[in-house]
Amino acid sequence: MRKKCANTEKTGVLCSRKRRLEMDIRQIIEKMTLREKLAQMVLLVQCYQEDVFSDDPGKREFMREASKKYFDIDDPQDVMNTGGAIFVDGAEKAVEIQKKHLEHDRNGIPMFFMYDVIHGYRTIFPIPLALGCAFDPEPVETMSRISAKEASVSGIHIVYSPMLDLVRDARWGRVMESTGEDPWLNSLLARAFVRGYQGRSFDRPYTVGACIKHFAGYGAPVAGREYNTVELSEYSFMEFYMKAYAAALDEGAVAVMSAFNAVEGVPCSVNGKLLKDYLRGELGFDGFVISDWGTVGEQINHGVASDETEEAELAIKGGLDMEMYSSLFVRKGEQLVAEGRVSENDIDAAVYHILSVKEKMGLFERPFGWADQALEKRFHLCAEHRNEARRIAAKTFVLLKNENGILPLSKEEKVAFIGPYADTGRLFSRWGSKGRTDETATVKQGVSAKTRNAIFCNACDFTEAGSLDSGAAVSAAEQADKIVLCLGENEDMCGEGASRAFLELPKIQADLFETVRSLGKPIILLLFGGRPQEIRRISESVDGILCVWLPGTEGGNAVADVLYGDVLPEGRLSMSFPYTVGQCPVSYNCFNTNRPAKDNDRCTSKYIDIPNEPLYPFGYGLGYSSTEFSDLRQSDAEMNGSIVFTVNVKNTGGHPVTETVQLYIRDIKGSVVRPVRELKGIGKITLLPGESGDVRIRLDEKQLAFWHGDGTYAEPGLFKVSVSKNSLDVGLETFFELKKRN
Ligand code: BGC
Repeated sequence: MRKKCANTEKTGVLCSRKRRLEMDIRQIIEKMTLREKLAQMVLLVQCYQEDVFSDDPGKREFMREASKKYFDIDDPQDVMNTGGAIFVDGAEKAVEIQKKHLEHDRNGIPMFFMYDVIHGYRTIFPIPLALGCAFDPEPVETMSRISAKEASVSGIHIVYSPMLDLVRDARWGRVMESTGEDPWLNSLLARAFVRGYQGRSFDRPYTVGACIKHFAGYGAPVAGREYNTVELSEYSFMEFYMKAYAAALDEGAVAVMSAFNAVEGVPCSVNGKLLKDYLRGELGFDGFVISDWGTVGEQINHGVASDETEEAELAIKGGLDMEMYSSLFVRKGEQLVAEGRVSENDIDAAVYHILSVKEKMGLFERPFGWADQALEKRFHLCAEHRNEARRIAAKTFVLLKNENGILPLSKEEKVAFIGPYADTGRLFSRWGSKGRTDETATVKQGVSAKTRNAIFCNACDFTEAGSLDSGAAVSAAEQADKIVLCLGENEDMCGEGASRAFLELPKIQADLFETVRSLGKPIILLLFGGRPQEIRRISESVDGILCVWLPGTEGGNAVADVLYGDVLPEGRLSMSFPYTVGQCPVSYNCFNTNRPAKDNDRCTSKYIDIPNEPLYPFGYGLGYSSTEFSDLRQSDAEMNGSIVFTVNVKNTGGHPVTETVQLYIRDIKGSVVRPVRELKGIGKITLLPGESGDVRIRLDEKQLAFWHGDGTYAEPGLFKVSVSKNSLDVGLETFFELKKRN
């Protein structure tokens, strides 16, 4: 008897494992017409398929017209046969569309459903830049596992995450989607994302495929201006920008999204050197590459194609397998093959990449993935997921200032929470998928659950659109012993298409700050936002600063947990806060230059009006207690070439504390210039007042390797190791020599 999987009941599609094995992908491809192959290489927005399949003749007619108008597709069959759809809306829709699709597609190839699940699906977690601040892969893996669970039961197969673009320029709005400026930390977290989404096997329930993005270098647009050209030397590209992508692929990510930008003058979506030679050749990637939104059709703008046919030609030849949103392949592909401009082998290769991932993910057996309406109800925003979102959010908060131990607050003191973030559910980014503000715990809700001694006053909106109610702000502040100003940029001021040239708080919020400051009471800045903002002036006149980013569904509860000391602040900056925007791009792992900065020496590498150092550097973050490092020890090199560094950490203050020990190296002399510091290891320890303990960090020889053009290897010689509290802290130092191998 032939075995059917659960989903099969719904379609009658045979899907025994044996059958799956029989379904050799190449055989399927052989049976496909060229037109069908080209349709497989297209991903449209879900509503198109929905309307094509609609029982309502009006909708079908509309769709026919729309496909003609927007996609120049004459035959709605092409819409039915596409390789996938984006933004599929829930299990019911996913099952319905897949069913109808399989009824129409004579080859029985299920569609992929893809979605932007960036920091959660229904339960929203902190933005990725905040997740980076946990300096710990666990929260990232947990968030991804929960997101996969919630998204997969809604019928999603592939998520457009993780975003692995290294970022150094806070002007760029999308820094919020990255885990920050450090290649080592980004790589560690890249692996955690992939593990969380994909699990150990796609046969396990509630897994989704990870589509890493934006390949490559999209995080370095010139001047921080969205979609701007990227200009990087091959050395910087390989040493800093490429590492996290490579780590995620090594962990098994099944898909790659090509970036909008050009690299070395060639737009990434048509860049054969990048997509074929490097991605497939050197990194050995065997999944599929999808373009970013509509970007195959942007090659005329880039100035590398003169018409749509050439755009499609360049993309197919460049190694792009699937286009997102546009449909040039299906419209121009036949002509390209007929004219001999593209070989059918190239088309077959692309289709093979797509189908092999469908097969790997078990779509032929389970075309509906894990879509299940009952499980949607059970999993979405369930108590367990909310609890995890709360725990994880607290881990991402970074305490930037704490004069005279103004924090934690006591539940007995009277505190006024003032500002646009005092009582709002707008605590996630525009990528908050299916997050809802009315289901999000606000600061007011979180704090009110802990104490009655708090008052709340919005006083103004995020921007000048509204007016400032100074009277309300002053009256709230006057009643309080301490003031928590809840300020920052909102979701519209960061993210895609939100580059900013000024990174200070909007004027209305700055006015609110001045109004409250004039009262002379102790102030804590509770800073929200999607990027490092310019807070230098404000930082000088407040007593405490807690940066909480965009913390997600449980944001308000997590904020209250940390402000009132029920949970310890332990975040460390994943991206430097610039002293002023004129420093951008800025990152700790820069090169030394010929003339490192010296005081009173004009002709050294520095500014005449500001320090070189950022206001708060990468790795920076305080606890409610102070710590001291001592007794740095180093083991002999072990057989496998690793050295263990051990340091003693003591809690020297009056509160418990979680410290993050950071191990940086400096390759003193290389055949090319090397960074002044590179993070290579972290270790966390939680200590009660007066307590001390050892933290051990292992450094492998392979971590000393760097890109040479002809391979990646370490050069023998002297290395400095700094065991520090952040990237600018001198910490404890030692040296070791990497011996020449015989
Ligand atoms: C973004 C991608 C995103 C895609 C689909 C694009 O505009 O650059 O990151 O995955 O849209 O929503």
